[in-house]
Amino acid sequence: MSLTSLYLLYPLILTIGFGSSSEEHDALPLNYLQVRPGSSSFKIALFADLHFGESAWIDWGPLQDVNSTKVMSVVLDQETPDFVVYLGDVITANNIAIGNASLYWEEAISPTRARGIPWASVFGNHDDAPFEWPLEWFSATGIPHTHCTLPNSSGSGEQECSFRGTRRIELMKNEIKQNNLSYSRNGPKDLWPSISNFVLQVSSSQDPDSAVALLYFLDSGGGSYPEVISSSQAEWFNRKSQELNPSSRVPEMIFWHIPSKAYKKVAPKLGIHKPCVGSINREGVATQEAEMGIMKLLVKRPSVKAVFVGHNHGLDWCCPYEKLWLCFARHTGYGGYGNWARGTRILEITQQPFSLKSWIRMEDGQLHSEVVLSS
Ligand SMILES: *[C@@H]1O[C@H](CO)[C@@H](O)[C@H](O)[C@H]1NC(C)=O
Ligand SMILES: *[C@@H]1O[C@H](CO)[C@@H](O)[C@H](O)[C@H]1NC(C)=O
Ligand SMILES: *[C@@H]1O[C@H](CO)[C@@H](O)[C@H](O)[C@H]1NC(C)=O
Ligand SMILES: *[C@@H]1O[C@H](CO)[C@@H](O)[C@H](O)[C@H]1NC(C)=O
Ligand SMILES: [Zn+2]
Repeated sequence: MSLTSLYLLYPLILTIGFGSSSEEHDALPLNYLQVRPGSSSFKIALFADLHFGESAWIDWGPLQDVNSTKVMSVVLDQETPDFVVYLGDVITANNIAIGNASLYWEEAISPTRARGIPWASVFGNHDDAPFEWPLEWFSATGIPHTHCTLPNSSGSGEQECSFRGTRRIELMKNEIKQNNLSYSRNGPKDLWPSISNFVLQVSSSQDPDSAVALLYFLDSGGGSYPEVISSSQAEWFNRKSQELNPSSRVPEMIFWHIPSKAYKKVAPKLGIHKPCVGSINREGVATQEAEMGIMKLLVKRPSVKAVFVGHNHGLDWCCPYEKLWLCFARHTGYGGYGNWARGTRILEITQQPFSLKSWIRMEDGQLHSEVVLSS
């Protein structure tokens, strides 16, 4: 297709992408969150790599989920954030044999929902990964039937097993349909197979039309397709940011799961030294498989302050890269590899004058790694 005809298609794609999707939420032009009246700041907690449903058929599988729920509950009660971002690998679909991985997904979002806190989620590389048959299931103990049963709404109690994984689109549609506090969207259809692409505005406490910050969420792939942010996603970001923030006046923050190659360029060698800030640097950066232009666009925009990713459980630093910051979250879940103490990266956006501060809140209540990301 020629460039000209692509251009002609844009308005059409936009309409199809946001307008005609089956979810009623998608009809809204731009979803906004608002700084609480009387407050000058807006706080976000990043729950990264929870890995619910991991090793579901072994005793300590479900116990990990109990532990992860506790970490989230402690952080939510101590920080009382205004918003939560589920930064991918919410579940370990590779280990989920039931027909509907949304049940584990629901378990992961329940501590936030129970406290009436709104949230949004992006996909990681494990969320829609296909089931991997455990070798031990072929030994004398065999396949553990009980974990395969999902009594459905008809109450038949019949076996409901799936070994192909629940698709991204189903996970996202279930989350949105079930939860009026979810700000997640299944992004424009033309960005398929990536799904979690959307923008949220944080508005000033006085005026919902006055933006304090824009939050961009992107699906960095993995699981059922390669770990990549495609050139059409990059183009979508370009188009959206030009449309919403043409003068680059409003500060912007970016959220996705798998680090881009730029993280490798700035990674501290041994330990963590200024200007980087963090507490663990225990593994190499595991980057996306390919780059298709998103980083080039981000560094060109003066309004982009920081990118936040999960994926590497043994890294929790922030380092500057050109004019922006590249940050890891902190491994929040007991599921997934690594035994580093669990915690959560917190972001605090202050309005007028704008500032973006971040720190890590640990499960035991400790705080560390405070850093200002807006200077
Ligand atoms: C749950 O958390 C406790 C306390 O951190 C830990 O000792 C235990 O090993 C954890 N259990 C699992 C299954 O992760
Ligand atoms: C899967 O679970 C979700 C959440 O409980 C539910 O809304 C959805 O209808 C279920 N889907 C199927 C196909 O059972
Ligand atoms: C429940 O299970 C029965 C028997 O397997 C099936 O016919 C029915 O469609 C299922 N209902 C739902 C809502 O999944
Ligand atoms: C949101 O959902 C909860 C329970 O699912 C319900 O109690 C509440 O009334 C709903 N709120 C709105 C504004 O629809
Ligand atoms: Zn992970």
